[in-house]
Amino acid sequence: MNNRELIEKITKKKEFSQLPQKDVEFVFEKFDKRKIGDEEKVRLTRDLLRKIFSAFTSKKILSLKDKNPEWILRKHLSTRERLPFYSNVYKRILKNFKCRINIFDLGAGVNGFSYEFFKKNGYDVNYVGIEAIGQLVDLMNFYFKKSKFNASAVHLSLFELSKVKKIIQKQKKPRIVFLFKTLDSLEMIERNYSKRLISEILPFVDLIVVSFATKSMIRRESFKVKRHWLVNFIKDNFEILDDFEIGGERYIVFKKKKNL
Ligand SMILES: C[S@@+](CC[C@H](N)C(=O)[O-])C[C@H]1O[C@@H](n2cnc3c(N)ncnc32)[C@H](O)[C@@H]1O
Repeated sequence: MNNRELIEKITKKKEFSQLPQKDVEFVFEKFDKRKIGDEEKVRLTRDLLRKIFSAFTSKKILSLKDKNPEWILRKHLSTRERLPFYSNVYKRILKNFKCRINIFDLGAGVNGFSYEFFKKNGYDVNYVGIEAIGQLVDLMNFYFKKSKFNASAVHLSLFELSKVKKIIQKQKKPRIVFLFKTLDSLEMIERNYSKRLISEILPFVDLIVVSFATKSMIRRESFKVKRHWLVNFIKDNFEILDDFEIGGERYIVFKKKKNL
């Protein structure tokens, strides 16, 4: 089989069927040069794609169903762990904002289903989630439309940096970017990409909030060292406004330094 056919085979599985083509190719290329058979390349690519993209606890989440937000938030590892703490987290991050805020949730997963927590705590939010898994994008857009929220989800790879920047720049200030538990995934595809992404979007946003799991989630152990490196990068280059841990997740809130 040629590479195009192998990639087609990889994405035949429902869980990978709506991933951006570029991201699948990036992962496939990691194994393509190895002296291994086609079946092994397919298996290794799918394994890594699963590590990068599938943080949900049930594949039921991939079907468009009219479930309540809490049901969905419980079906994804990241949001399930955050569920009891949403109000605390959002109040702490957004405490200085009284007007309408534009939030860009990069690698959103199903975090858009937490929109009610903005409302409940009195925040007027226009939410844009950017996510690679097409099914999750459809799920969020279905919910936003039904609930008539100021929110939308966009099916896009975060490696499409110029498009990501355009989406952010289209909205008014204040602009806040969430990168919740997403940087590990990007680093698995391209080392140091987090650094580039943050550096390129920070000049035109008011705040970035990065989060990491502090207790080990399945298959995450090997990224702990790189997180130190990333925290130091943020400390050295930007102004940290807050740094706190709630529910096994550490949040770092930062902005550009005044003289930049
Ligand atoms: C661990 S989950 C976190 C989800 C969400 N940010 C949260 O904390 O609730 C990481 C998410 O990033 C998405 N993701 C990973 N790489 C991506 C990429 N290159 N472009 C867009 N989304 C990506 C995955 O599909 C997944 O939904």
